[in-house]
Amino acid sequence: MESSTQSTPNSIPIPIIINNDNVRIMLDACYKGDIKTIQLLTNQNKLYCYQQDNETGLSPLMVASQVGNIKLVKFLLEDGNAPWNALCRLKNKCAGDYATDSEHWDVVNLLVDWGTRSELILGTLHKQLLNKQHAQGQEGGGDGGINVVEPDRQKEQQKEKQIPIEEQSSTKSNYLQHKLTYNKDNTLLIDEDNDAVMMEWERPIMKCHAQILLENCIPTKNDPYKSRGRVLNIGFGLGIIDTIIQEEYKPDVHYIIEAHNDVYKKMLDDGWDKKPGVVICFGRWQDILPKLRSEQYQQNIGLEFDGIFFDTYAEHSYDMEDFHKQITMSTSNGGEKSSLLSKPHGVYSFFNGLAPDNLFFHGVVCNVVKLQLSTLGLDTDFLTCHMTAPTTTKNSHNNSSTWDGIRRKYWHGRDVYYLPKSTWNSEYIGRKTKLSNRMDSEGDNDNGDDNDDNDMMTDDNDNNNGKRQRR
Ligand SMILES: C[S@@+](CC[C@H](N)C(=O)[O-])C[C@H]1O[C@@H](n2cnc3c(N)ncnc32)[C@H](O)[C@@H]1O
Repeated sequence: MESSTQSTPNSIPIPIIINNDNVRIMLDACYKGDIKTIQLLTNQNKLYCYQQDNETGLSPLMVASQVGNIKLVKFLLEDGNAPWNALCRLKNKCAGDYATDSEHWDVVNLLVDWGTRSELILGTLHKQLLNKQHAQGQEGGGDGGINVVEPDRQKEQQKEKQIPIEEQSSTKSNYLQHKLTYNKDNTLLIDEDNDAVMMEWERPIMKCHAQILLENCIPTKNDPYKSRGRVLNIGFGLGIIDTIIQEEYKPDVHYIIEAHNDVYKKMLDDGWDKKPGVVICFGRWQDILPKLRSEQYQQNIGLEFDGIFFDTYAEHSYDMEDFHKQITMSTSNGGEKSSLLSKPHGVYSFFNGLAPDNLFFHGVVCNVVKLQLSTLGLDTDFLTCHMTAPTTTKNSHNNSSTWDGIRRKYWHGRDVYYLPKSTWNSEYIGRKTKLSNRMDSEGDNDNGDDNDDNDMMTDDNDNNNGKRQRR
C-alpha cells in the first residue's frame, strides 16, 4: 500500500491512501477498456496509472499492452506518467514484453519509441551530470581540495553491493589493474572477480562479425588482385575474431588495439606481432585512436579501415558512443578528408551485448545506438543470427554448464543474436546525388546500395513486424 498527498483549497496536504482493491479495479478496467473507471480513479490519484498489484505485480501499462489497447497505452504513458520499463515482480516482464508476447506490434513500436526517447533524454542528462561532477572534482582537486566525485562514487558502490549481481553495473573502472587468467585450453579468460572477459561459446558470433567486415574484400575470379582489405579490431581477448580474420580473410592490414597488459603479453607469447599485416597497438583505444589520427595527419597518409570491430570489456555505453565519434570523425589529410572508417564502403560492427537479460530492453537500447550512429552518418541494420545459446544447466554429456565458476552470466538463453552492421549513409556522404545523376543519364535502376546483406546465417526480416524483428 502506498500513499500520496493532495492539497486542499487552503493548501493543507491530505494523505490519499492507495488501496490494493482500487489497484485491482484499475487493472480490471484496463483489461476491459473501461475508460470511465480509469478516468475516475486517475482523477482520484494519478498513482493508479502505474501502481502495481501486490500479488501479480502487474501494472495498468502491462495490462493495456497485453490486450493491445494502444489508446490506453498512450494515455498511461503521456498523462499517467507510467514508467515504460517497470518490471512485474513475478515474471520479471515489462509492458513491452507483454505486448510482444501477444503480438500487438503497434503497441510494441510505440513502447520502443517511447523507451528510446526516454533513454536518450536520460542519457543526455546523466552525461551532463557526470561532466559537471567531473568539472567540480577537477576544480576541487589538487592540494587540500575537496573531491566531490569520490563520495558519490563510494555511495554508488555501497548501493551496488546491496543489489543482486545480475543487476549491478558491469562497468569496472579498475579493470586494467585486475590480474587476468586464461584457462589451460585457451577457451576462457576471466578477471579477478571471476567475471568472464571472453568465452569460447562466442566463436560462431565472432565468425559472423568477421564475415560482414571483410566479405567484400575477398579477391574473385574477375578481380583476382582485389585488395584483401584493412581491418581494425578493438579488444583481443581470446583472439577468436583475430584468428578467424587471419585464417579466413588474410587482410593486407590488420590493426589490433589492446589495453590489458596480461592480454598483450599473451599476444606476444603467441607470436601475434609476427603475423602478416598485423600491427599491435598496446594501450586504450581512447589514447591510441587520437594518436593514430594525428600520425596520419602528420605523415599525410590516409589510415582508413574497410572493417572496424569493437568488443571491449568493463566499459560504459558512453565509451562506445565516444568510440563511434572517433571512427566517423573526419581528419583533413592534405586537402582530402578521411575518417578511420573508410568511405563509402567501410563496415562497422560491435559485439551486441546491450541489455542482454531482457529482449525488449535489448531492442530499445539497440534502437538508441542506431539513432546515435545515424547522427554520425551511419545506417545500422541488426541482422538476425541463429545460434546455440550457451548451456545454463549441467548436461549429461560433459556434466558442466558454460557458466560454471563464472560470477555473472552475460547471456540469458536467447538463441538469436542481433548482429549490428553499420555502413555509411549514401545521402550523408553525398553518394545519393552522384548516383541519381548516374541513374538519370544511364537509365540504371540500381538503388545504389553497395552494402547488400549477405548470405551468411542471417535472415533480415524486413516485414510488418517492424522493430521487433529488425533491431
Ligand atoms: C571481450 S574481449 C574481446 C574478445 C575478442 N573479440 C575475441 O574474439 O576474443 C575484450 C577485450 O578488450 C580489451 N579492452 C578493454 N578495454 C579496452 C580499451 N579501452 N582499449 C582497448 N582494449 C580494451 C580487454 O582487455 C579484452 O582483451
